[in-house]
Amino acid sequence: MLAESSPAITSVNRAFSKQSVNYDHDDQQNMVLQDMRLQVYQHVAAFMKPHSSILELNSGTGIDAFYFAQQGHSVYATDLSDGMIEQINLKIWHHELQGRLTCHQLSYTELDKLNGEKFDYVFSNFGGLNCIDDLARVTKHLPALLTPGGYVTWVIMPPVCLWELLSFFTGNGKQAFRRLNKSGVVAHLEGEYFKTYYFSLAQIKAAFGTKFKFVKSEGLCALSPPPSRGDFPAKHSRLYPALRKLDHSVRHHYPFNRWSDHIIVTFQFTP
Ligand SMILES: C[S@@+](CC[C@H](N)C(=O)[O-])C[C@H]1O[C@@H](n2cnc3c(N)ncnc32)[C@H](O)[C@@H]1O
Repeated sequence: MLAESSPAITSVNRAFSKQSVNYDHDDQQNMVLQDMRLQVYQHVAAFMKPHSSILELNSGTGIDAFYFAQQGHSVYATDLSDGMIEQINLKIWHHELQGRLTCHQLSYTELDKLNGEKFDYVFSNFGGLNCIDDLARVTKHLPALLTPGGYVTWVIMPPVCLWELLSFFTGNGKQAFRRLNKSGVVAHLEGEYFKTYYFSLAQIKAAFGTKFKFVKSEGLCALSPPPSRGDFPAKHSRLYPALRKLDHSVRHHYPFNRWSDHIIVTFQFTP
């Protein structure tokens, strides 16, 4: 049972628990999401040593946890949603991953409950951290959880997404500039409403503070469509690979390493 049960946390839990049932199916059907995951794995592979112990935040149904466990790492997956935790438990049981993949229902604001545990890597994918208004409420726990030299890779949605800005020209000004609202944006998911917040690279760096060294940032879907356009690859079978190729050539460079649908950011713990 979660100790933290504010109304906001409760609606996030309800929304993602409802989504958890079809989550893996929808993920597999969405080619944009599949390409994004692959890019995240390539990014992480540059820093993750063999047989690492990984703490995953907002792990959802455990798609990435399962992938990392299969790669020989040990994964401690956490999420606040009842439904998501149920799905990870099913994966552990079905694939006999006991000992390599463990899960715990926990908000990333309550990581102090993982007393004494130390990890080589802290990972968070696909905007789970956009459900909080202040990333420092999470980063403050990291020094106690990481081994010196350990890495953190987070995939977060920034305020500027070029693809969304384009919707201004199709008459949808509200959609185009929604991420720029500093007091957060109300998300509507599975009949539930909760606030989401968008973080610039500068805000993310500030939340990590001086005990962490910034290592790298790269854009995910800088010029190619975001996952909400999961139908794009099938509808535009020539244009989509061309846009992904374009992404590939710009994603490590300013401004595309910070202006994208998501950004992948990596820090190293250097106490
Ligand atoms: C978009 S899903 C991403 C799931 C997974 N990382 C993936 O890549 O498929 C966002 C996840 O964040 C989780 N989440 C939201 N707020 C959270 C919090 N305060 N603590 C832990 N998990 C949270 C949700 O329950 C949901 O599973």
